[in-house]
Amino acid sequence: MRLIKVFDTTLRDGEQSPGATMNVEEKLQIARQLKRLNVDVIEAGFPIASQGDFEAVRLIANEIDGVTVAGLARTRFEDIDRVGEAIKSAESGRVHIFLATSDIHLKYKLKMDREQVLESAVKAVLHARKYTDDVEFSAEDATRSDRDFLCRITEEVIKAGATTVNIPDTVGYTIPLEYSELIDYLMNNVPNIDKCVISVHCHNDLGLAVANSLAAILKGAGQVECTVNGIGERAGNASLEEIVMVLKTRPGIFSGADTRITTREIYKTSRMVSKITGMMVQPNKAIVGDNAFAHEAGIHQDGYLKERSTYEILKPQDVGIPASKLVLGKHSGRHAFKERLKELGYDLGDDDVNKTFDKFKSLADQKKYVFDEDIETLLTQELSDICDVYCLTFLFVASGTNQRPTAHVRMTVNGEDRELTHSGDGPVDATYNAIAAITKTKSQLSKYEVKSITGGTDALGDVVVTLEEGGRTERGTGSDTDIIIASAKAYINALNKLEGKKRAVEKGI
Ligand code: KIV
Ligand code: ZN
Repeated sequence: MRLIKVFDTTLRDGEQSPGATMNVEEKLQIARQLKRLNVDVIEAGFPIASQGDFEAVRLIANEIDGVTVAGLARTRFEDIDRVGEAIKSAESGRVHIFLATSDIHLKYKLKMDREQVLESAVKAVLHARKYTDDVEFSAEDATRSDRDFLCRITEEVIKAGATTVNIPDTVGYTIPLEYSELIDYLMNNVPNIDKCVISVHCHNDLGLAVANSLAAILKGAGQVECTVNGIGERAGNASLEEIVMVLKTRPGIFSGADTRITTREIYKTSRMVSKITGMMVQPNKAIVGDNAFAHEAGIHQDGYLKERSTYEILKPQDVGIPASKLVLGKHSGRHAFKERLKELGYDLGDDDVNKTFDKFKSLADQKKYVFDEDIETLLTQELSDICDVYCLTFLFVASGTNQRPTAHVRMTVNGEDRELTHSGDGPVDATYNAIAAITKTKSQLSKYEVKSITGGTDALGDVVVTLEEGGRTERGTGSDTDIIIASAKAYINALNKLEGKKRAVEKGI
């Protein structure tokens, strides 16, 4: 078997999806699940970008053993030093340096010539080697770079000590045939190529990220960079679950190339990432979409019932889709609840289990059956409810026929109590007007979605909002059996994220 390393960048490139910012606690939960999934490398963040990113990489490096933890850096020494500091206590830590190599990026973005880029890359790799023997260099926009320059820089960074060289399709421009020829060209024209692992990192602008990654594996790439559910910058990155399951399903085509992924953890990981980021998985998404294993057409159903393999090439159990869903209720005890949390992939300390158990109990008082989806919602709400700057402390809404709705909102803003009553076109509008006035924020609400987590009028309502301010976008989530409270929580969650992003941008990153 030829082992292909899985470099998961859900917590870094995935987090760059518009609105998918995660806090440190959310990143830690996902990192624990990525360990269960058995990825080889977790790219946990870009430590120079913000204190939160630095903390996330540091805490993940500190806690997660058996997986390499990587942090991203530009070629600046201060970026590399920050990664070095963050991965200090990792059992296995990697510095991942990137610098663009295409003439377009050199001319317009970097304003450097090729010799300067070469020199900067080599110096950066040498500097990073002071922190770890595991250094990755990424030639950003490799697929639009001059091939011979790409060969030269690959050779030089390997000489300087890079152990992995990544050939990213940063703008999702290439196609499988061209990309496989590029990898082949490097394999045959870089004299010391055998001293490093060639990695591939494909974006999905033309819908080809997975196909391109697989084409590169056929030509000798030894590492794939990907994200859970394919989330990421613009149209996203190559989807981890699709690459892994293609290799599993078609071993003959890939001459036995395979990954170490525990495929039964795929579905759980997908759900967790979707809940935490608020990015829904489209129903027809391969492997993890709701319809991925649903047979609707009569002819298909008939064939499937006679012999499963007529219409099914994978089994839902292979990716961990449960055959039936367990239901808890108000008589379920703490032990059963804790076990359920573990089965859903959430690893909480006793205090957090107790806090969530109390919320579960009050939910179970309100609705008869508590489903997995309800528990996931309680958990992710608990994780995202971090009142960095803004915190809701009280909400009262009055609305009805022949009455203009009003909302009385009390909040803390950086620890200071503030309250206000505002009217609006509906109860949500009144609440949002009051929050905007209290926080003195001017964001635009570009999307508001509400859905019930399970059936019934007593169901938890899940609200996802998208706010935009000064060219920045953030998504916020909130849930409650009262959809106005859920709406307020989602709005405040997005405002807190916008604040965090504003601080990072003020630092010029
Ligand atoms: O897409 C890209 O080029 C990247 C690099 C930082 C690897 O994300
Ligand atoms: Zn990328």
